[in-house]
Amino acid sequence: MTERPTAQTIRQARERLSGMIHHTPLVASQSLSSLVGADLRLKPENLQVTGSFKIRGALNKVAAVRQSEPTVQTVVTASSGNHGQAVAWAARHFGLSAHVVVPKTAPAIKVAAARAFGADVEFCGTRSRERLDRARELARINGYVFIPPYDDPAIMSGQGTIGLEILDEWPDVDVVVAPIGGGGLISGIATAIKETRPHVRVIGVEPTGAAKAWQSRRSARRVELPTTESIADGLITLSLGHLTHPIIEQYVDDLVTVSDEEIKEAFWLLLTRTKLVVEPSGAVSVAALLSRRLVLDPKTRVVAVLSGGNVDPAVVSTLSAH
Ligand SMILES: Cc1ncc(COP(=O)(O)O)c(C=O)c1O
Repeated sequence: MTERPTAQTIRQARERLSGMIHHTPLVASQSLSSLVGADLRLKPENLQVTGSFKIRGALNKVAAVRQSEPTVQTVVTASSGNHGQAVAWAARHFGLSAHVVVPKTAPAIKVAAARAFGADVEFCGTRSRERLDRARELARINGYVFIPPYDDPAIMSGQGTIGLEILDEWPDVDVVVAPIGGGGLISGIATAIKETRPHVRVIGVEPTGAAKAWQSRRSARRVELPTTESIADGLITLSLGHLTHPIIEQYVDDLVTVSDEEIKEAFWLLLTRTKLVVEPSGAVSVAALLSRRLVLDPKTRVVAVLSGGNVDPAVVSTLSAH
């Protein structure tokens, strides 16, 4: 496989994942459409197997590893939580062991799920770089196979299957809005969309406290932020990947940042208006649309990707109290 996903590798991923994951439906909401001023449909990956889109890339990658290295026994990964759960699920599916390195601040619900799927969970620091280094070190010392969280063509191809599903279900879509952490999700989606229907706009959303793609675009180079902070725990990566950065520069039309207050508002509206429980990282697309920072016509057909729903119940009540 080449260094980047293509429409073809994404179609192959769709074949591979077929029957293993849910085809999440596009959900229309009149009340959210009128609040954002566009014809809005939601892609609820909070309802996906393991509660986030991450299972798409994890299954595609673990299946590829199993094919190319049939003697592999253990996979290792670094994750803010959702990718770890997904790798644990995928490893168990293929009869492998999984070791997952997560930050000390990982939500309890994500840690519990990774353990429930049979993974060994190790806590390491709070920053994405620390846990990535630790997971690579474990791979080197113990002969585990490292499953990257985003900077990998098979991972991006798996995530890109969301783009194909959107185009199949709503061929007239004009705009797709998705969150950016390390950039694997949006790189896959943007590749699927731009290599099939280039006129569809792709918009990336980050928290104001973790605007690595926005800063990188402004500086015309891949920027690593010294620190990041947001309630969107899946999006506080310090930098885009070496592979995801050029794809985002090529294919993502616009970048929008949203504050934690705006994310909380989006969380609340999703819960009360659509009855969907979406974690803060998954609510940023709707937060960006609600902010009206994107100028859209009321007839514009927009899909907001709700990327996950793994939020601790205690956080749900704090966010609801807000
Ligand atoms: C719910 C959720 N949304 C979005 C992302 C960002 O994905 P990526 O790192 O591929 O940009 C993550 C990453 O952990 C996540 O957990």
